[in-house]
Amino acid sequence: MENALVITDLKKRYAGGTEALKGVSLTVPAGELFALLGPNGAGKTTIIGIITGLVAKTEGRVEVFGIDVEKEPERARTMIGLCGQEINFDPWMKPLDILVNQAGYYGIPRSAAIPRAEKLLEDLGLADKRDQIGFRLSGGMKRRLMIARALIHQPKFLILDEPTAGVDVELRRSMWDYLTALTKEGITILLTTHYLEEAERLAKHVAIINKGEIVAKGTMEEILALHDGSSPKDGYGGGKLEEVFVKLTSNS
Ligand SMILES: Nc1ncnc2c1ncn2[C@@H]1O[C@H](COP(=O)(O)OP(=O)(O)OP(=O)(O)O)[C@@H](O)[C@H]1O
Ligand SMILES: [Mg+2]
Repeated sequence: MENALVITDLKKRYAGGTEALKGVSLTVPAGELFALLGPNGAGKTTIIGIITGLVAKTEGRVEVFGIDVEKEPERARTMIGLCGQEINFDPWMKPLDILVNQAGYYGIPRSAAIPRAEKLLEDLGLADKRDQIGFRLSGGMKRRLMIARALIHQPKFLILDEPTAGVDVELRRSMWDYLTALTKEGITILLTTHYLEEAERLAKHVAIINKGEIVAKGTMEEILALHDGSSPKDGYGGGKLEEVFVKLTSNS
């Protein structure tokens, strides 16, 4: 089967000395949703930064659909859509213009970009906000606008860094449906989230990273099978995935 992403022995040392990645290897099969999980500071956004060319790696190799992201950044960029962890659009711009502008970076003419943008805003429930400045959107709406923007150039590989942070329960569920529909269309999704039930519901494969190292990876069934059936010591019982996660990433 074709792979959307192959990461080999990736290392990152930031200026200042933080070893954010200590030799990470990961494979994301094409056409599915892959969850990258880990506590705050584990290295998830650093990995995403390197895949998208925003962060320079120290060592290792990253290929997106067989393209080395360092050797052919432009080709890789057209395949990738990024919805980053931070809200980063111009708050004075209107959603429709944000999308059409973004399309321009990929050489898509306005005439083609406008109907595409309208469709995305419609699909993400933002049609009635298209001409309001971004500043006036709610937190959850801003996230959805970022997803629409990531999709405007029709990438094969969508990277979502905590897309549902601060999104309410009902909207989160509708986003799950939307992401499921995208994978059915053949788009590969790499998702980070701190909502473990979200990962459990959506992901076929999962990797758990802690302090710059992968501590578990496999199919969701394989990861859930790491659960030993014991009840948590602290008495806070979550789902099965949460128990496995806590066991693999706790500092004690
Ligand atoms: N630009 C930077 N300069 C220096 N250190 C950085 C930089 N960006 C991240 N780090 C450090 O690298 C480590 C990994 O951070 P990263 O943002 O990749 O974690 P994360 O898994 O995305 O965490 P979170 O769940 O909180 O978003 C942390 O120790 C962080 O402080
Ligand atoms: Mg992060």
